[in-house]
Amino acid sequence: MSKITVWFIRMAMSYFVVAASMGVLMLALPWWTRTYIPGHAHLNLLGWISMTIYGVAYHIMPRFSGRPLYSNRLAWIHFYLANIGLIGMVLFFGFVGHGKRGIYEQLLLYSAIVELFSIVIFVYNMMRTIRVVEGSPK
Ligand code: HEM
Ligand code: HEM
Repeated sequence: MSKITVWFIRMAMSYFVVAASMGVLMLALPWWTRTYIPGHAHLNLLGWISMTIYGVAYHIMPRFSGRPLYSNRLAWIHFYLANIGLIGMVLFFGFVGHGKRGIYEQLLLYSAIVELFSIVIFVYNMMRTIRVVEGSPK
């Protein structure tokens, strides 16, 4: 298994524990629920689910397409941006949920843009990896 797969799966597993703990905390402290729903939802969906898919995709897509991953460098850029963007989003969703405005809303937006950028890099890398070239099976 490649290092990029291992690291995406490791991060996904870690986010799963934190996100599920946030879920239990929301049940235990219901007055916090509204504040933490977006953080909990995205830590689960972009952290646990998407990062598991990223890890599996980096392993399986090159094998399906019968050629190496288009760019290992882009995969690592994707890894760092996806994690920085997600941690920023979860943190600043929390601040904004607590009623903080101004700079916190800006930082939430910047984190979201970093996350989106990471998604575009992943999609580009995958599209280049699975592209049909002359000699591909019909
Ligand atoms: C121990 C596990 C979990 C607990 C205790 C938990 C708990 C909660 C609670 C209390 C809410 C707020 C519900 C409300 O009052 O509207 C919530 C929302 C949500 N949870 Fe979880 N959750 C868990 C795991 C997960 C997982 C694994 C996922 C996704 C893979 C997930 C996705 C979501 C989403 C998307 C929302 C927002 C739903 C909406 O917008 O109404 N949760 N969760
Ligand atoms: C760059 C990536 C993403 C950004 C910037 C983003 C942003 C947002 C924002 C701003 C909200 C409204 C939160 C609020 O109620 O204040 C939201 C809600 C939601 N998003 Fe995303 N999202 C992203 C990716 C995703 C993905 C990949 C999924 C599912 C796989 C998802 C599922 C949801 C769900 C279920 C809700 C409703 C629950 C909630 O209130 O948090 N999002 N998203």
